[in-house]
Amino acid sequence: MNCVAKILVVLCVAAWGCHGRFVCHYTTWSRFRPDEAAFQIDDIPGKLCSHVVYNFLGVNESTHQLDLLQPDYDIDERGLERFAALKEKYPQLKLLVAVGGWGHGGAKFSEMAKFRERRNQFIGSVVKFLHHYRFDGIELVWLYPGNFDRGGAVEDKDTFLYLVTEMAKIFRQEKKQWEVIVQVPLDVSRMAAGYHQEELCREADFVHMIGYDMRGWWNNFADVHSPLAARPHDLTVQSFEKVNVGDGVEDWLGNGCAPQKLVLGVALFGRSYLLDDPLDNTIGAVTIGAGDPGPYTNEPGYLGYCEFCQNLTSDEWTKKWDDVGRCPYAYTETTWIGYEDQRSLEEKINYVKRNNLGGLYAFSLDMDDYRGECGEPFPLTRILSQYHDETKVKDWHIFTSTTENNQSNLS
Ligand SMILES: *[C@@H]1O[C@H](CO)[C@@H](O)[C@H](O)[C@H]1NC(C)=O
Ligand SMILES: *[C@@H]1O[C@H](CO)[C@@H](O)[C@H](O)[C@H]1NC(C)=O
Ligand SMILES: *[C@@H]1O[C@H](CO)[C@@H](O)[C@H](O)[C@H]1NC(C)=O
Repeated sequence: MNCVAKILVVLCVAAWGCHGRFVCHYTTWSRFRPDEAAFQIDDIPGKLCSHVVYNFLGVNESTHQLDLLQPDYDIDERGLERFAALKEKYPQLKLLVAVGGWGHGGAKFSEMAKFRERRNQFIGSVVKFLHHYRFDGIELVWLYPGNFDRGGAVEDKDTFLYLVTEMAKIFRQEKKQWEVIVQVPLDVSRMAAGYHQEELCREADFVHMIGYDMRGWWNNFADVHSPLAARPHDLTVQSFEKVNVGDGVEDWLGNGCAPQKLVLGVALFGRSYLLDDPLDNTIGAVTIGAGDPGPYTNEPGYLGYCEFCQNLTSDEWTKKWDDVGRCPYAYTETTWIGYEDQRSLEEKINYVKRNNLGGLYAFSLDMDDYRGECGEPFPLTRILSQYHDETKVKDWHIFTSTTENNQSNLS
């Protein structure tokens, strides 16, 4: 029996931990919502997540070090310190910091990663930060290396890999088990310009794959934004043939990534559209723009689940299911939303299990129904958390086995 226990432990180490992680994202800007709706650090449901990520810090363009994007909150209002204190409330919880993001762009990363000396500056500042706040790692959200529209350069593909490799090496020397995580797209057309897929997977501890935002109002046709597979209409619009979760994940796997390092990202928000003709409301229908902004997220074409879950209970809305993409959508008059719900998230959980992936991350906590307007608070986060709970049981067995082992050694 002791032998069996030992073998189990070895297998789990080899697989970078056999428990599936569930990484939750916290966004600092959600605190600006009015009154009761303001999402605060105290609202983070630390019991439901294995990790929580603080979004975002940035890269300083003159010093090439880690930079605060909103020192008034991060420092003056003690945002980082209060976030770090979540570990006292939830001792099992791991904390990460995300650097970059869409608004940050790629230019500052590109400039920093260009020379070894600058990369050292950056990595040194990250080490200092992680020591200071006792976080467990960093997520690099460089969108996207090698993308000229976003301030990229040809050499980004190489320098991104150097950055990750050097950072992982220095983290190992610190012996803190800090993680280097990279956030990457699933759109296979972005790979050639920016990603040495196999090497990145080898050097980084985890690869967070953006499994959403694959469609939106900018495409001028109504669709769900995180389909699991190609639908018939994707094959007629040739550029969308491979732009789906399944083909994207297979591409990372097929290029030499260990499945346990791949973490699938899911969205707790929807993408909304304005239909051209209210009678033409099927997937692929012609749209003439973005749906109206929501009261909290305030961005056309983008709605947190908390901003429309109540609407969907009314008869005015028709709810449908994409059988191939495995995602829900809903419409009323000229408004059309493609989103995720409990059912589609279960499909994604099963996909992650079938493919032995390392886990899931969700963007973001403040998009879920965190005030419980439509039932129990955090309905979507809870579904994802159940998956994490199931895998935790395995961990507990392993822990008991090793304890037994040591006890029998002593006796
Ligand atoms: C970058 O760092 C310099 C020196 O510490 C600082 O003066 C400047 O404000 C920083 N830039 C930004 C954009 O924060
Ligand atoms: C949902 O309902 C609220 C309250 O009636 C309304 O203001 C809002 O526009 C609706 N949202 C959508 C996406 O239709
Ligand atoms: C078991 O013993 C080993 C060394 O004998 C030690 O490193 C390890 O932490 C112990 N594990 C537990 C769960 O007590």
